[in-house]
Amino acid sequence: MLRSTSCMLVCVICGWGVHAHALQRLPHVRFAHSSSAMHPSATAPCSGNAAQNHVPRTSLKHTRCCEASLPALDTHRVDIRFILGYLWPHGGKALARLRVLASLVLLIAAKLYVVRVPFLFKHAIDSLGRAPLRNAAGWLFAYGFSRSVYTLLQEGRYLLFTPVGQSALRRFMRDSFAHVQSLDSMWLSSQSTGELSRVFARGMRGMNALLRLLLFNVLPTALEAVLAIMMLGTRYGSGFLLTSLITVLSFVTWTLFIVQRRVQLLARVNENDNAIFIKFFNSLLNNEAVRINVNERYEVGQYDGLLSRAEGLAINDVQTVSVLNAGQALIYWTGLGVIMSLCARGVVRGALTLGDAVAINGLLLQLHSPLTALGYTYQEIRQALTDMRQLLELLRRRPRVVSVPRAAELHVRRGDIEFEDVSFGYTTAGGNLRNVSFTAPAGLKTAIVGSSGSGKSTVLKMILRLHDPDSGRVLIDGEDIRLVSLNSLRREVALIPQDTILFDDSIMHNIRYGNLSAPEAFALEVAERVGLNVTAHSLPDGYNTRVGERGMGLSGGERQRVAIARALLAQPSLVLCDEPTSALDSLTETTVQQVLDDSFRGRTSVVVAHKLRSVLDADQILVMRDGQLVEQGSHLSLLCSPNSTYSRMWAQQTAGAEDALDDLNDYCELLDGSGLARMSLNAAQNALDLRTLEGEWLW
Ligand SMILES: Nc1ncnc2c1ncn2[C@@H]1O[C@H](COP(=O)(O)OP(=O)(O)O)[C@@H](O)[C@H]1O
Ligand SMILES: [Mg+2]
Repeated sequence: MLRSTSCMLVCVICGWGVHAHALQRLPHVRFAHSSSAMHPSATAPCSGNAAQNHVPRTSLKHTRCCEASLPALDTHRVDIRFILGYLWPHGGKALARLRVLASLVLLIAAKLYVVRVPFLFKHAIDSLGRAPLRNAAGWLFAYGFSRSVYTLLQEGRYLLFTPVGQSALRRFMRDSFAHVQSLDSMWLSSQSTGELSRVFARGMRGMNALLRLLLFNVLPTALEAVLAIMMLGTRYGSGFLLTSLITVLSFVTWTLFIVQRRVQLLARVNENDNAIFIKFFNSLLNNEAVRINVNERYEVGQYDGLLSRAEGLAINDVQTVSVLNAGQALIYWTGLGVIMSLCARGVVRGALTLGDAVAINGLLLQLHSPLTALGYTYQEIRQALTDMRQLLELLRRRPRVVSVPRAAELHVRRGDIEFEDVSFGYTTAGGNLRNVSFTAPAGLKTAIVGSSGSGKSTVLKMILRLHDPDSGRVLIDGEDIRLVSLNSLRREVALIPQDTILFDDSIMHNIRYGNLSAPEAFALEVAERVGLNVTAHSLPDGYNTRVGERGMGLSGGERQRVAIARALLAQPSLVLCDEPTSALDSLTETTVQQVLDDSFRGRTSVVVAHKLRSVLDADQILVMRDGQLVEQGSHLSLLCSPNSTYSRMWAQQTAGAEDALDDLNDYCELLDGSGLARMSLNAAQNALDLRTLEGEWLW
């Protein structure tokens, strides 16, 4: 055991990897003493307040987008090496590295020192009966002074190690956040934001606890234990060694037995805690539905049910902790009693002095608090690893869509977008896009229409490389977009979504988000171009007015204007619009549509539209059904092809004026094929205006 403990110590000190199960051997260490357990930042909380600890729910939902993700981690096998890696500063930070080394030296010095302290007291006692008295006084003074020196060494180590730990924590959280930002949007959107933020909060707490435990608890206690064992073995022989070994082993076995049960209990506590959180969140989110359906009592009842379970579990937890404490006390103090009687026998036989008895007693008393703390340390380490598990799982998840190494920058020259036999599926079943081929010519407006779920938005997402095709290629100016850097692609393409969600920040910040380095004057000009100046002037703080959570302080039309302004500010070569006006009332829709048309005229645009009337002016219209491109042409040519999906959609959307379709079909028949092909937008518009003028139907 001594060897394995020393091994672990060497590993930790040298920065080699150990796994959590190695750490769990620590409670078996026979002797340990550390006043570190008394330090606020090093003390394991010995409270029965289970709600403070959190065991996450089952792992996050898995979707196909992150197939590279590994199976759920076993908490016992979380790679401590990975965590320790953060402790060693990389990249030319000589001072930080010096700090780590200095604190390790201080740690070893402090521990070598502290195991000798009880023996100063031994000398004091032994010299009490002998003259001159000043000998005893000298030893007692040395004893007292040594304790203060030890505290100084300890505090020095805290001061040196704390910045190391905090910097490791900061880098770990920064890297985790950056990693999550890089994960596939499909996976991210399938996650609950509340759950993700809790995974982060727990991960941070877990990492914090683990660093604290490793630096201020496990490492010092283990080192001290090894030294104390050596001291007892060499000075007093095997009898003392054996008794203390049995005591410590029983203590540890009991502790592990109860702590295992407590960990399971805490898992249930946290499951319930999560359920309470989700209930609360959902209930408030659906507050309107609760009121409208007069379900307040039902909601409170459900909430109370969960609270009552929490109440029972909390009582259970306090009982478990009491049993743990009582058992530990019984074992330890009985063991101490036996060892002290061995001392008494030794003193009577003259093998030991009174001073020896006092020193052994002092050493054992010193051991008590770190040994007790080790029980909680074990529990805390398990908890910390559990807390970190989901975050580490996130870190092991690899995004599918990444830039290829040394990817070239995309430089849009003309702005042609081409789909070459593209197939894609969100799940392995596939079929969300099937052999889609088309070209969106540079500088023109291409519209995509089709029933809901036919794959229109998916086409746009493929252009932004939110997903990659399973087969086929998407090309911009003839270049496969998988071969250019993601950032350069997304800088060239702007997306205006159906309903824009804004940051809870000022209007100006939300506009500038499209290009954070654009000068403010340009942002103001763009805002004016889309009519946001009118909105801003009507608000008390103008452009500095906060838009509220998700931008709900603005109307749908205003939010869409912000989205358009953002896109304008980014000065993209290609513009994608995903039903940008469908969430708006018809009056707002007309004005926003106008703003859109004016803003992006002359740029390649692909516009998904639900209402056909908003794409009458499109240079070409693609009709999608069940992931396939079924028709393609201008408004009028599609309308004029008999039994086309488009003409049926048109008839549906102009219900009440079915005869209009017949009229148009008649009109189309009057034109010859070549005339149709050459028919300009204006001609089509004029044809349709015929019916409008008669006032029979409008679009
Ligand atoms: N994140 C997703 N995960 C799984 N399936 C999805 C996801 N997004 C869309 N789909 C499915 O893909 C199909 C096409 O979706 P979409 O392109 O959004 O349709 P549209 O925009 O035409 O309404 C639908 O059947 C939809 O259910
Ligand atoms: Mg859609």
